[in-house]
Amino acid sequence: MSDDRPIGMFDSGFGGLTVARAVIDLLPDEDLVYVGDSGRYPYGPRPRAEVRGFAHQITRFLVDEHDVKMVIVACNTAEAAAFHELRAATDVPVLGVIDPGVRALVSATTSGRVGVIGTVGTISSGAYQRAVEATGAAVKLTCAACPGFVEFVERGETDTDQVHVLAERLLAPVIDAGVDTLLLGCTHYPYLARTLADVLGREVVLVSSADETAFAVRAVFDGHPSAAELPAVARRGAGRPARHRFLSSGDVAWFRELGGRLFGPELADAEGVTWAPSPSGSPAA
Ligand code: DGL
Repeated sequence: MSDDRPIGMFDSGFGGLTVARAVIDLLPDEDLVYVGDSGRYPYGPRPRAEVRGFAHQITRFLVDEHDVKMVIVACNTAEAAAFHELRAATDVPVLGVIDPGVRALVSATTSGRVGVIGTVGTISSGAYQRAVEATGAAVKLTCAACPGFVEFVERGETDTDQVHVLAERLLAPVIDAGVDTLLLGCTHYPYLARTLADVLGREVVLVSSADETAFAVRAVFDGHPSAAELPAVARRGAGRPARHRFLSSGDVAWFRELGGRLFGPELADAEGVTWAPSPSGSPAA
C-alpha cells in the first residue's frame, strides 16, 4: 500500500529548510510542500497565542489546500507554542523537532553538561527543560535564548562581525556552564554553525534536530513502535521523481535568492502564499 500525498512542513522562514534537507536526503522519493512564513518572521519574540494561531493556520492550509499526509513542525517556537493542540486538531500525523533534537543531544554528550539555545519563545516555554527531563538522562542542562540570531539568518548574514559579536554575548551562559554538547534548538541556527563553532571552540559538539527528525518521519512510515501513538501513513509509490514545492509568505524574490544560497537551486521555483488578514481566516495561495 502506498500514499502519494506530499509531506507538509513549515517554519517562520528559511530555518526549516535545514530539516527539509535531512528529510529529502533520507526519503528521496517523498513529495514535499514547504511553507516559509517569511512574511511574519521572527516568531520568537511574538506572544505565544499569536504563534499558536499561525501554526494552526499553516497546518490547516497544508492539510486542506495541499492534502498533505503528514505535517512536520520544522520550527521549535511554533512547536513549543502549539504542538499538542496541533496534534489534537489534525487527522494526519504531526511531528516536531524538539524530542528528536533532545535525543541527539543526550546521546552525544560525554560529560553530561549540555546546552540548548533557541528563541525567546522556545526557551521561555520550558519545552526543552521538560523534554530533557522526560528522557531521564543524567544531564545538567543550561538553556540560553538568542534573540536576534533568526533575523541575521533571514537577512543572509550568517558569518558577519556583527553576528559574531552577538554570539559571544549570547553564548556566554553555555560557555560558563562548560557544556560539551550544544543543541541548536532553533532550525535557523545550523546556518550560523561556523560562527557558533568559532565562538564556542572546537571542543563543544554542535547538534541539530534535522537528522533525528528525518529518522522520526521514517519511523512513522515504517510503523515503528516509537510512532505507535500517531496515525499510520505510508510512503509514496514509485513512478516519477519526487516533487518539492517551496512557498513563502514574504518577499518571494528574496526567498528564491537566499534560499538558493542556503539550500540549493530548487528554491528558484519558490512560490508565494498570501494569508487572509486574521490568523483564524482561511489562507489563499
Ligand atoms: N526556526 C524557528 C525556530 O526553530 C525560528 C523562529 C523565529 O522565527 O523566531 O524556532
